[in-house]
Amino acid sequence: MRKFSHAIVRRPCRALTEGISSGLYPGKPDYQLALVQHDAYIEALKKCGVKVDILPADEWYPDSCFVEDPAVLTGRCAVITNPGAASRNGEKDEILAAVRKYYPDERIERITFPGTLEGGDVMMAGDTFYVGRSARTNEEGIRQFAEILGRYGYQCVEVPLEEVLHLKTGVNYLENNNLLVSGEFTDKPEFASFRKTVIPEEEAYAANCIWVNDTVIIPEGYPEVLAAVQALGYETITVDTSEFRKLDGGLSCLSLRF
Ligand code: GLY
Repeated sequence: MRKFSHAIVRRPCRALTEGISSGLYPGKPDYQLALVQHDAYIEALKKCGVKVDILPADEWYPDSCFVEDPAVLTGRCAVITNPGAASRNGEKDEILAAVRKYYPDERIERITFPGTLEGGDVMMAGDTFYVGRSARTNEEGIRQFAEILGRYGYQCVEVPLEEVLHLKTGVNYLENNNLLVSGEFTDKPEFASFRKTVIPEEEAYAANCIWVNDTVIIPEGYPEVLAAVQALGYETITVDTSEFRKLDGGLSCLSLRF
């Protein structure tokens, strides 16, 4: 199944070393290694059949390679978000020009203060968008997002988060009703109707895999998740994300796929 034709990525900047980190995965990112890993990530996306739009590094925003957070791109509209992390909020202005290449102005919507929302909290499953209420995405942001989605014929389901940074830190949709879940998401009623693959705690980081046109890209070093995804029948590609993991960043955070 081919669903995505394009992806947008942004090259890591030197200031990456100053990005936000919870400290869950200790250490500062190595900038040169991050570039090498980013190259491999782009190649993996290309192998999945998408055209990759590579934006230049943006030194103003240390976390700006996590391009998924300042926008949500759907088949019917784009939403420029309003990132809840103060040091990342300006990324919404930097992503706009790229989004405008693919969406007409009348289909570019915005989340505005006091609403906040980050794309890492948004998981698309068909015409339903699950949205994590997190430290970055607030009630008003979700209200605005649901109102926008409703105008385009989409549904919005709020999912309260207790433990992780973003919704997709712990739950990711692989199409065909298959859902990867870890930790607090294992038993959430919102996901009861999916066929769930439960990720063991020691491989929780790898809950953040991405489905791209029937191939699943998986972080390197998580053998149980790799075997579980292959057992579901998907082609897989692994990519080392060690330098992005130090900033709590995963595979989904590094691109907008549409
Ligand atoms: N370091 C990625 C984030 O906290 O948003």
